[in-house]
Amino acid sequence: MSKITFSIIKADVGGYPGHANVHPELIEVAQENLKKSDILEDFHVTHCGDDLELLMTHRKGEDSEEIHSLAWDTFQKATEKAKELGLYGAGQDMLSDAFSGNVKGMGPGVAEMEFTPRKAEPVVAFLMDKTEPGAFNLPIFKMFADPFNTAGLVIDPSLHNGFRFEIWDIKESKKIIMETPEEIYDILALIGAKGRFVIKRVFPKGDKLPNDEPVAAISTEKLYQIAGEYVGKDDPVALVRAQSGLPALGEVLEPFSHAFLVSGWMRGSHNGPIMPVGVKNAICTRFDGPPRAVALGFQVKDGKMNGPADLFDDPAFDPVREQSARIADYMRRHGPFEPHRLPLEDMEYTTLPGVMKNLKRRFESVD
Ligand code: F6R
Ligand code: MG
Ligand code: MG
Repeated sequence: MSKITFSIIKADVGGYPGHANVHPELIEVAQENLKKSDILEDFHVTHCGDDLELLMTHRKGEDSEEIHSLAWDTFQKATEKAKELGLYGAGQDMLSDAFSGNVKGMGPGVAEMEFTPRKAEPVVAFLMDKTEPGAFNLPIFKMFADPFNTAGLVIDPSLHNGFRFEIWDIKESKKIIMETPEEIYDILALIGAKGRFVIKRVFPKGDKLPNDEPVAAISTEKLYQIAGEYVGKDDPVALVRAQSGLPALGEVLEPFSHAFLVSGWMRGSHNGPIMPVGVKNAICTRFDGPPRAVALGFQVKDGKMNGPADLFDDPAFDPVREQSARIADYMRRHGPFEPHRLPLEDMEYTTLPGVMKNLKRRFESVD
């Protein structure tokens, strides 16, 4: 069976209104452009908050110039439409004037996985807005390494061997491969610091699946480091394969039954609870949030993306939405105080250097 690649390439090319949502006409423009292409097996265009999300299957492999070029061209056309409609921050994530073979480092976020499809291949695309790639550390760890989340780790012999985690140090641009269950304490020591260490890929270990093909992939672009100044959040996306030797669909979704805290939210500078929602509620309103997560499920067959099933559009996730709204309230009461506001070095933009400059003369030494 020949390999298939599932790619998510996303960008904020203009919000409506403010940074809340994507205008339906941008989605139409993107659909039209992808429809014209003959290099895709299938595609689905959607949004999470103000991010335009291109979900595509193809046979060109990861990092394909043709696929990245198609995505770039699509975002450019959507940017033109955003300008025409006067949308907010039109072209926000298009950080370069010219495409140079790969969208990485040019603004858009990317999660891609090339793999040999099984007879039936369930794939979940996770889309988040108003947060950062490290927001996926907790749920991905739980899916693949926490027996209190994933019953299969204990009771299914084909999951018993554990998984290999590829972890990136995004400040030093280095990566390390670590194994579960042997190294879970060391893994947690790293990925608990989610602003610095992020899970990039997960690989299987047993003999059921090819060990060199990923079963999960997460976007790790850091927009503010790319641009050298604040241009918007690097709202992340992820792909996860499920079932038959991998966490079951319900084990993949289970970490989102808890409104865990992530960094981002208003001005990319606040800690707040994640809120899993259906696409229709993936609109960032209250204090530009709270940060949202969408999960779209597909059965991939012969390159075709059968779906999506909007997996968080389900009353089973009402309690976590409620919990998230309550935590949002609690966090907001702290106003400009940490730990609601992020520590200075993690804030995406801050007036503090200006404040300090003005006050410099008035600061005296303390003996
Ligand atoms: C956070 C985000 C928003 C904006 C905020 C201010 O990632 O996109 O919270 O930071 O709405 O936006 P500007 O500076 O564009 O008015
Ligand atoms: Mg925006
Ligand atoms: Mg966004």
